[in-house]
Amino acid sequence: MVPRDKRVLAVNFICDIQPGVRDERLQEDVWIVTPKGEFEGKVAVVTGAAQGMGRAAAERLAKQGAETVLVDIQLDRALTVCAELARNGLKTRALACDVSDENQVRKLVETILGELGHIDILVNCAGILRPTPFDELSTAEWDRVMSVNLRGTFLMMRMIYPNMKERRYGRIVNFSSTAGLTVSTLGGAHYTASKHGVMGLTKAVAKEGAPFGIRVNAVCPGLIDTEMVQGSISPERIRRYENSFPIARLGTVEEVADLVYFLVSDRSAYITGVGVNISGGDLL
Ligand SMILES: NC(=O)c1ccc[n+]([C@@H]2O[C@H](COP(=O)([O-])OP(=O)(O)OC[C@H]3O[C@@H](n4cnc5c(N)ncnc54)[C@H](O)[C@@H]3O)[C@@H](O)[C@H]2O)c1
Repeated sequence: MVPRDKRVLAVNFICDIQPGVRDERLQEDVWIVTPKGEFEGKVAVVTGAAQGMGRAAAERLAKQGAETVLVDIQLDRALTVCAELARNGLKTRALACDVSDENQVRKLVETILGELGHIDILVNCAGILRPTPFDELSTAEWDRVMSVNLRGTFLMMRMIYPNMKERRYGRIVNFSSTAGLTVSTLGGAHYTASKHGVMGLTKAVAKEGAPFGIRVNAVCPGLIDTEMVQGSISPERIRRYENSFPIARLGTVEEVADLVYFLVSDRSAYITGVGVNISGGDLL
């Protein structure tokens, strides 16, 4: 117990308590109370974690105590994120990988399993958006969008699934989109097709994985305030979209990270194989 004369601000978590540690700056003994996150001892892998929703999801999981691996093609940027998170005492590491490349994904997973021993949580966020109209769409662009958004999600799941199955524990969240439930607002037919594919993959693996303690769900964001959106359309067009949503604004990366957290936590223990629409009521 913390002594009566010591003030405690808030204890909502299971905590590690170190009593009577000398603080030279304060010149007195202090009690260090460190919240133990619910994912303490778990390893989380988040793709597309150098920016946007992947970064926010990685930060959220690391704050809950998961040893979190940030995977991205932009290694420098992912390393900068790790350094920023480390300043807040969060345990993260960054690894470069193009998720559409089978050899790179295999090497990535071997490296993580070699260093950390297991993977408990996988968040497949890496994705690309292309707005090309259908009658201008090349086969090469179709292949690229499908290979990052769908093949990348498949490869990450396929390489990590055996470790989860063996350990009878796994939480997977894939990034689909409202484009995976209806038709994309900003992306072309290839983007919509890739996100529908992610939904199919999510449902099929959820069914196969359930007996082995593996839950697989998807998030289906509407328009979220990230570089992907800001880089695709003008501020005026963004305002027009915002005004058309029942909740008249863009979503935030933190709101999506909260949903990812819910889907990997035990609060969603009876939920698998769903795509959760997070779009401010856009599809109503
Ligand atoms: N922003 C939105 O409004 C929105 C809406 C619905 C769905 N999504 C989906 O959510 C996910 C994240 O979107 P965001 O807006 O945060 O995107 P973003 O462009 O800000 O970030 C995507 C990240 O993925 C990484 N990436 C791209 N290709 C990769 C590859 N081949 N291998 C590894 N990493 C790669 C990028 O470097 C980047 O860091 C995507 O799958 C996107 O399709 C976004």
